[in-house]
Amino acid sequence: MAKHASRFICQSCGTVHPKWSGKCDDCGAWNSIAEEASSETTPRGLTSGKGHKIEMTALDDKAEDAVRALTGIAELDRVLGGGLVAGSAVLIGGDPGIGKSTLLLQTVVAVAQKGLSCAYVSGEESVAQTSLRARRLGLLSPQVRLASATSVRDIIATLDTPSPPGVVIIDSVQTMYLDNLDAAPGTVSQVRAASHELIKMAKKRGMTLFLVGHVTKDGQIAGPRVLEHMVDTVLYFEGERGHQFRILRAVKNRFGGTDEIGVFEMSDAGLKEVTNPSALFLSNREGAISGACVFAGMEGSRPLLVEIQALIAPSYMSSPRRAVVGWDANRLAMILAVLETRCGLRFSDKEVYLSVAGGIRVGEPAADLAVAAALISALYDIPLPAASVMFGEIGLSGEIRAVSRVESRLREAEKLGFREAFLPKHSAFKGLTLGLKVVDNVAGLMRVFGGSAKRDKRQEEAAIS
Ligand code: TYD
Ligand code: MG
Repeated sequence: MAKHASRFICQSCGTVHPKWSGKCDDCGAWNSIAEEASSETTPRGLTSGKGHKIEMTALDDKAEDAVRALTGIAELDRVLGGGLVAGSAVLIGGDPGIGKSTLLLQTVVAVAQKGLSCAYVSGEESVAQTSLRARRLGLLSPQVRLASATSVRDIIATLDTPSPPGVVIIDSVQTMYLDNLDAAPGTVSQVRAASHELIKMAKKRGMTLFLVGHVTKDGQIAGPRVLEHMVDTVLYFEGERGHQFRILRAVKNRFGGTDEIGVFEMSDAGLKEVTNPSALFLSNREGAISGACVFAGMEGSRPLLVEIQALIAPSYMSSPRRAVVGWDANRLAMILAVLETRCGLRFSDKEVYLSVAGGIRVGEPAADLAVAAALISALYDIPLPAASVMFGEIGLSGEIRAVSRVESRLREAEKLGFREAFLPKHSAFKGLTLGLKVVDNVAGLMRVFGGSAKRDKRQEEAAIS
């Protein structure tokens, strides 16, 4: 007998609580617990029925490779790890209005031109709205079937046929519902159950399923994290609303790496691929100016390149100002002390301003080397070598220490068009077109500016006297 009772489920992490409370003990989210009806049956134990024998396969080279099809959108194919995989599920998340629907509409039309049939099911827009947008963008293809539906039962009844479409888009998973569940669309139970049914169909019929997922204010895909475990690939589509550039990143991929990014530009004719992202990245920067250094950083599992800017100004106060935006002030004090002690540089009579461009906060010690380079560059008014990035942690004796995920940082720098990287020893990587220069200690960093630590100390003293 089915037992109908209420459960209280955190909408952010999916934890089931026995009663309502204002805060989820598990993930710490406030006001995220909602009541949902439960229709779970009591477990019957394994004695009541016999299971079927499952077939075991040897792990040898006879295992078949995944069947892949290129979409024709190179930036997307790269992020997917080499095109669409038959029988896989891709979750694509992003802020509202960032361009998820546009990207997927362009994808289905591009795929259809290669001869695969596609279905685009929107739970958010009517067929008229979707086709109006497609017509405006010149995306017409009889191979693409549009529908506006939210019932998973109806969608499966339509698509789960012996000749199913090759690619299915569900926009978005938060609008889908299963009628045998007593919860509203968008709740954890509905999102989980609807995705489960759709993924099951995709695996059975060998379709490539794209699920669009909304994101919450803090940038996570709304609904339980379990959704990210259920799919094979998780992509994020990001970008600033005010800017036309969009970046597609893989945060999980069972069929490829997660270090690839795809860069697009939103124009009045839809999304355009940006084949030379370095041009766009460098266009925001002011050529070769002193006091600026690009740091090849990581944000969680994602590589992120940011520009670190330093400004040194004369001070007439007994304790000159040190102002930091986007970095740790104590860490700055430490770097200044190391540069003063180990290289003989003088900051004590100068104001020091340090900022991470673009309003991002950097928490990694790996930014030390880039910060030190920006400071020295600002002090001497010498720009750093063009198209170079830096990373490395600085120790108190002035040595540059190795950091994690070197390959991701270098690949992202290479992808964004940088030509040279300054990095700690023991972190070289082969197979890159990027020039690698090892910096052992801060004295070695001084040589990047054409001086040795000792000579610079003498120059400083000469300047003071
Ligand atoms: P959309 O794909 O609907 O975003 P999402 O599905 O992620 O919510 O994109 C909508 C935004 O994109 C909208 O604000 C307008 C902009 N846009 C363009 O600038 N040019 C275009 O050709 C299209 C189709 C949309
Ligand atoms: Mg949309």
